Amino acid sequence: MIAKVLIQWHTKHGRKNLPWQKNFDPYHIWVSEIMLQQTQVATVIEYYQNFLKKFPTILSLANADIDEVMQSWSGLGYYRRARNLHDTAVMIRDSFKGQFPNRYEDLIKLPGIGRSTAGAILAFSFNKKYPILDGNVKRVFSRLYGIEGWSGLTLVEKKLWGIAQELLPDKSIRIYTQALMDLGATICKKNNPECPQCPLIKQCLAFNKKLTHLIPASKPKKDLPIMDTNILLIENAKTILLTKRTEKKVWQGLWSLPEVDSTDPRVWVKKNLYIHQSQIITQGTKTATFSHYKLRMHFTHLNVQIKNDMNQIKNTIWMPLEEIEGAALPSPIKVLIKQCYKLK
Ligand code: ADE
Repeated sequence: MIAKVLIQWHTKHGRKNLPWQKNFDPYHIWVSEIMLQQTQVATVIEYYQNFLKKFPTILSLANADIDEVMQSWSGLGYYRRARNLHDTAVMIRDSFKGQFPNRYEDLIKLPGIGRSTAGAILAFSFNKKYPILDGNVKRVFSRLYGIEGWSGLTLVEKKLWGIAQELLPDKSIRIYTQALMDLGATICKKNNPECPQCPLIKQCLAFNKKLTHLIPASKPKKDLPIMDTNILLIENAKTILLTKRTEKKVWQGLWSLPEVDSTDPRVWVKKNLYIHQSQIITQGTKTATFSHYKLRMHFTHLNVQIKNDMNQIKNTIWMPLEEIEGAALPSPIKVLIKQCYKLK
């Protein structure tokens, strides 16, 4: 009954022109689902199109250098997704003869593919009857069935998966799956849901009990740990020093501002750039929030004058200021640079 209502609703109100809805190619569907895991449709569209232009097949992705993949991902955040994407492409090339697996048991073992993403790939690409349960869908089911607990609790999640499985239709699994996603994204929104437009309003327990503002329950708040770091914005003749992040931590593989141990930035400049004269323009602190911690960036904006040929130091470049906007830098770093220069 619920599936039928959703499928009918989708015919009129669902999203049908998203770029990953053009065909059922599992490579395309997989890339889109990974991008959409933590990011909204509007942001994903351009990244998705550029990514497929650069890596048109799973083999081209598997054979690419991880640095190239990271560059294509820069700005999307949650960079582990890009690493997993590359690792998975290599596994499919080497263990599945380059053919995307179509069995749940195989998909679930691949890096970055959890139960819901496996379900979406199976439903969209292979027309198989598998459930999904991403954040939007959890909200829809929690409200529909008046489930009051936070959906991250094991018992609540189990209940929601039970519902997801139970409601699956025998036919039109693709449309049903997309309808669920679309209802969650466009009608059953977290704040100010548009209940009068909802095809399930009659059945919705949260609506009938006037509890849509309380269901789903928010994740219990925990203070995120804070990590401190010193960052240098070193300017020389309208160029900025960037270093490649090679260490196995956040933003690995991306170009960024140098992150240094020293509390006196000029010591680092002397030691690494062999420059004895530098002037501090400003200093300050900016905090970036990640899923599991906050990064408090203590930055120093310095000016240096380098004459003649600049030292060619491994993994460093001097990037002209006007190229910063279009460069593949981590978003918080780009924002920091723009603030220092009062760019918009
Ligand atoms: N979120 C996750 N998968 C999606 C899809 N296929 N369409 C729209 N939003 C999504």
